[in-house]
Amino acid sequence: MSRATVALGASPRLRYTRSGLPRRHGLGETVAEGEERSSEALDQVAAEVRVCPKCELSRTRTHAVPGEGDPKARVMLIGEGPGWHEDQRGRPFIGNAGKFLGELLAKAGLSREDVFITNVVKCRPPGNRDPLPDEIAACAPYLERQIAAIDPEVIVTLGRFSMARWFPGERISRIHGQPKRDGKRLIVPMYHPAAALHQGALRGAIEDDFAKLPKFLAEAEREREVETERAGPASEQMTLF
Ligand code: URA
Ligand code: SF4
Repeated sequence: MSRATVALGASPRLRYTRSGLPRRHGLGETVAEGEERSSEALDQVAAEVRVCPKCELSRTRTHAVPGEGDPKARVMLIGEGPGWHEDQRGRPFIGNAGKFLGELLAKAGLSREDVFITNVVKCRPPGNRDPLPDEIAACAPYLERQIAAIDPEVIVTLGRFSMARWFPGERISRIHGQPKRDGKRLIVPMYHPAAALHQGALRGAIEDDFAKLPKFLAEAEREREVETERAGPASEQMTLF
């Protein structure tokens, strides 16, 4: 099977290895089994988040917002925290910033259903204040479990709080749109859509950065193929028997 058959959007996951064998997600596991396992892990995180008492934000939330999307998305987007609309409905990015995010995804040939969207903190900071360091720390294990379950090829950080997880001390104005490798993933820092929506220069920048996403995905996929081949075809075939 040639790489050319793997189209962005149309075929969101590379399901077969070059040798035509089904892609394995874990030892002795098919793609379907891998997807089910990821979906169950995400459901478990969401169930815990909805009743989580681990920080002060639990006292003022209406609904916790665990995140949503494809359990095996190739792209994961991480915002800051739920706003008023998100708190009301328990869903991420459904206000004005969310509408803009949908337009940005379209620039990359993607829709909300193709990606997974979540936030650094899962409960709304009162009055939309910045999340505090101890709130971010308390919530971090949920985000880490989501990343592990989805295993995205590309993570897009939206705004400075998710950026700080991979680029501590950096300035978004300096590094936006410039990916960095973290193991088998590319991390791409971008402006927060709520900030970029109403500021001409930032809006142009975030639009340009999203337009580069297909290129970053292709890069990340190439890297994974190289890794799989380095691990050797035997490691995949063995699981068939
Ligand atoms: N802003 C965010 O950072 N996250 C949301 O879910 C909505 C707005
Ligand atoms: Fe729990 Fe995170 Fe909500 Fe704090 S923000 S209560 S850690 S889910």
